[in-house]
Amino acid sequence: MQQFQNALSELKDQNRYRSLNLPDGIDLTSNDYMGMAVHPHLRTAAIEALEDGLDIGAAGSRLLRGHTPSHAELESYAATYFKAGGALYFASGFQANYALLTTLPDRRDVILYDGLVHASVRDGLIATQAKNYKFAHNDMDALEALLKRHRESAGTIWIAVESVYSMDGDIAPLSDLHALAVRYDAMLIVDEAHATGIYGTDGKGLCWDIIDAHGYDHLVTLHTCGKAIGVAGGLVCASSAVIDYMVNKARPFIFSTAPMPLQALLVQKSLEILASEDGAQRRERLFKICALGQELFGGAGTQVIPIILGEDEKAVRVATAMQEAGYDIRAIRPPTVPQGQARLRLSLSSELEPAVLQGFSDALQPYMEG
Ligand SMILES: Cc1ncc(COP(=O)(O)O)c(C=O)c1O
Repeated sequence: MQQFQNALSELKDQNRYRSLNLPDGIDLTSNDYMGMAVHPHLRTAAIEALEDGLDIGAAGSRLLRGHTPSHAELESYAATYFKAGGALYFASGFQANYALLTTLPDRRDVILYDGLVHASVRDGLIATQAKNYKFAHNDMDALEALLKRHRESAGTIWIAVESVYSMDGDIAPLSDLHALAVRYDAMLIVDEAHATGIYGTDGKGLCWDIIDAHGYDHLVTLHTCGKAIGVAGGLVCASSAVIDYMVNKARPFIFSTAPMPLQALLVQKSLEILASEDGAQRRERLFKICALGQELFGGAGTQVIPIILGEDEKAVRVATAMQEAGYDIRAIRPPTVPQGQARLRLSLSSELEPAVLQGFSDALQPYMEG
């Protein structure tokens, strides 16, 4: 097909061609921030569950025969754990975000979204019936201006943000966002993808203090389960009415085979570990390495550190050199990040040795000067 060949050649000319590469070298790129993807207790739990006869596939959508005890137990556990009226488990965070944005807002509503929200929110915005408007990243004045403009005419106003931004590692002003949502009677949707398991009491996320004080009247949260939790899927937490509505109306939930029961079981085990002393120790190690990371490379002090290189060609060249030096770090280019901001996305883990991070910094130095 010539049109695809042409498009691929163009991507190659622009240094934007992507290919699948198996992991190789020291992990400075995955989202396994807490080492849970290789946790021995999760491995044992998986083996024991299968040996005890847990079915492999869910064999149906959740509203048909695919609703198993593992899904029900996880959702009940998560609702209590995150102090929500209810929780709903999706096969992926992408699916959950897409479902939120295409199900909750209707055609009379307005969605206001931060300029740096994830592709899964953006794809939901393409498919939603609600009008939607972008505000500049973390700019509360710009958001308030939009709230004022649309408050009278809109039905419900939805605000979509992340708590820790996936490509920049900076943190949203969540208290301000929540206060604006309350003041303008709006609903705040917070994607906690890069915060869950790490920040907030027991790693319950950066919205935890807000939830503890105010509940979910103006809030919906998404906890993706394939990053610090180390498994896969996405848990939406909200009031019981919102969850019930999603069960009845969310097409990605209704018309899709339920995730493997094992996946749900392991997410629950992982949350239990993250709330235990083991989890607390992992967080302590992660925060130490984050402090070193910030000292060496700047950034917001979280586990995601953008090393901005500018042009796509430079990002690819430096990533390749680092990979040849034994570090698994990848070039992130547009459209994932804005034009002219191609970068290495350094991702830290509680299991990373400080000396290794120092070694990476030394190896990178000549490229930062040139
Ligand atoms: C902020 C954010 N939200 C949602 C997702 C999607 O989650 P998942 O990988 O579970 O589909 C990602 C994944 O990269 C993400 O970074």
